[in-house]
Amino acid sequence: MKKIISSLTVFLSIWAVSVAWPGNVHRTDNTQKELLIPVTAGQMQLIYKVSGTDGRLYQVYLGPRLEQPEALLQSRVQGHPAYATFGTDNLFEPAIRITHNDGNPSLELKYVSHSVETPSPGVTLTHILLKDSVYPVEVTLNIRAFSEENIMEQWVEIVHHESKPVTVFNYASSMLHFDCDHYWLTQFHGDWAEEMRMEESELTYGMKVLDSKLGTRAHMYETPVFFLSLNKKSDENTGNLIAGTLGWSGNFQIVFEVDEKGSLRVISGINPFASEYSLDPGKIFRTPSFIFTFSGEGKGLASRNLHHWATRFGILDGDKPRLTLLNNWETTYFDFNEPKLVSLIDDTKKMGLDLFLLDDGWFGNKYPRNNDHAGLGDWQENKLKLPDGLGYLVKEADKKGVKFGIWIEPEMVNPKSELYENHPDWILKLPNRPENYFRNQLVLDLTNPKVQDFVYSIIDGMLTKYPGIAYIKWDCNRMMTNAYSPYLKDKQSQLFIDYVNSLYDVFSRMRQKYPHLPIMLCSGGGGRVDYGALRYFTEFWASDNTDPFERVYIQWGYSFFFPSIAVCNHVTSWGKQSLKFKTDVAMMGKLGYDLKVNSLTDKELKFSQDAIQNYKRLSDVIWHGDLYRLISPYEENRAVLMYVNPEQTKAVLFAYTLNARFGETFNKVKLQGLDPQKTYTIKEINIIDESHGPGNWNMVSQTYSGDYLMKVGLNIGMPVSMTSTVLEITGS
Ligand code: DGJ
Repeated sequence: MKKIISSLTVFLSIWAVSVAWPGNVHRTDNTQKELLIPVTAGQMQLIYKVSGTDGRLYQVYLGPRLEQPEALLQSRVQGHPAYATFGTDNLFEPAIRITHNDGNPSLELKYVSHSVETPSPGVTLTHILLKDSVYPVEVTLNIRAFSEENIMEQWVEIVHHESKPVTVFNYASSMLHFDCDHYWLTQFHGDWAEEMRMEESELTYGMKVLDSKLGTRAHMYETPVFFLSLNKKSDENTGNLIAGTLGWSGNFQIVFEVDEKGSLRVISGINPFASEYSLDPGKIFRTPSFIFTFSGEGKGLASRNLHHWATRFGILDGDKPRLTLLNNWETTYFDFNEPKLVSLIDDTKKMGLDLFLLDDGWFGNKYPRNNDHAGLGDWQENKLKLPDGLGYLVKEADKKGVKFGIWIEPEMVNPKSELYENHPDWILKLPNRPENYFRNQLVLDLTNPKVQDFVYSIIDGMLTKYPGIAYIKWDCNRMMTNAYSPYLKDKQSQLFIDYVNSLYDVFSRMRQKYPHLPIMLCSGGGGRVDYGALRYFTEFWASDNTDPFERVYIQWGYSFFFPSIAVCNHVTSWGKQSLKFKTDVAMMGKLGYDLKVNSLTDKELKFSQDAIQNYKRLSDVIWHGDLYRLISPYEENRAVLMYVNPEQTKAVLFAYTLNARFGETFNKVKLQGLDPQKTYTIKEINIIDESHGPGNWNMVSQTYSGDYLMKVGLNIGMPVSMTSTVLEITGS
């Protein structure tokens, strides 16, 4: 596709050249000079050039770190506009579009200065200031580079000093360019209970857009994550690619546009659809972050880069342990009372789990929450179900030595609620049209500061009254439809953006007072999984679909971009597979249960108790170890993956046989990430039945060198549908 020569447009410069390396604060104010601005994150490098001819900023390189970036100046690579504007000479999709208050729809950005800070060891922060030479509009490109993790985070600030507001139509977080022969896009799509379905296709000339218009959720249909493989398709261990994701919990847009010369621009940010923003003079419009990594060794390394970054910077308390739990949703739904809940608290203890999580249905009196038609918004304990209040349950849990957690959905309201009756002006709904329900509910108008206070007060009020509450599940069960904000009045096009920023304000206020409370991010399953929200959350509910067969694919999908410590997987009664299969599938992330413990046989109970102990012993490796996806369920009728601790002394391997065919045989699995020089003992764990069948390890420990395991491999698991094997691997 790409005619390589076209990317190296001959460029004559009469100006001097220089390369600006990071210092504590480096500032250059000479637009007359051709200048390179390299941004380096470990092995990856993004290089901009200030043109000596037109003073604009260009991207001249993105890829593995260069030994001699200054050669880019010698070879006169022109590059591509770093942040393309609209209205002058750009003929393709812009990163920014503004109409000035005199009606002029053009913007032309020139380099003014840049600075580089080192806010903490291993992290640099580059700011590049661009300005229009005619209108007082300034745009700052910000890049935070994480050297140990090989990750970059890009966002943009837009500000102007015109006499009246300007209208901003496009406001990308990032614009990146590539010059390759072929581009392979891997995208993840889905729906409720079908999250993270992976699909790969080649990009052709023109535009391909991944986006959402859901308002309260980032996704459900398309997910704001992608792999872009350059020149050739990549696999787990080979290929050059970019892995990218947008940290924004609302409408997003990622545009891939291949131009007539075969160059690709990737523009990521808030979805500009129906969202022009009126920006007051002096007010900063700050975009969310686009987070990305470059890997020259396939998708596996890209995922590990993202996991390392996420556990250190991307999710709350990513370096801390998590609580195992028993949830009551799938066992009781709305039908429970105090004695039933106390018996579930007992079950939590019996299983050896840390916490009991009370789900939906505990609130509402005038309109009791006995189903999803009523009560949402009325956050007082239902007196019939909980006559002694939440405090009693917190104490019961404490007496039994387990913690107590609670479900809330504070952004929403049922029309059948006191909240709806008392505050009709707090609700997003269109004038002159009927209310449009999804799960019988409406969305509150979070752009209104009074609503923000209300939402904050639900959490703060509950935690103040019951300080023993040790965990929250924050749900969001609908997207926006027929949405109109009574608060925003004539600025309706700002609703999608202001809603999410208001939500972040509430999250941030909550985190100032409760910095470490574990909170699960949920949205009717995984409808709001993104790094914008995960800054405030310790984990997320991956999907309401807990059938372990489906879960293998769903969890596999998430594993590309999110670390296992954040992915909540529960063992439930959904699916006809064995308890062992369900347990083994849930154990590859953050383990929980939502199961009638009293329906387990003695053998199953003992198996579960042992499995939970195994999990607790190995969870640090699963949560913080390096993930190696060994065999993809998209390629074989099985899935195999393993986690290895940084010292390479402990690993846990999970193998799941899915729908095996008659007579199917599986080849040996070559392990990865081990030390070839070390000796490893392999032991099967989570055994429920010793006569499990041939091919399994039957509790016999065996010893091999790391070299053997990685070059020859092992026969793992059986070609029998819905069976699984977990191996504990210990090296010395
Ligand atoms: C949707 C969530 O995904 C479920 O886990 C459960 O919490 C229900 N909402 C409760 O209404």
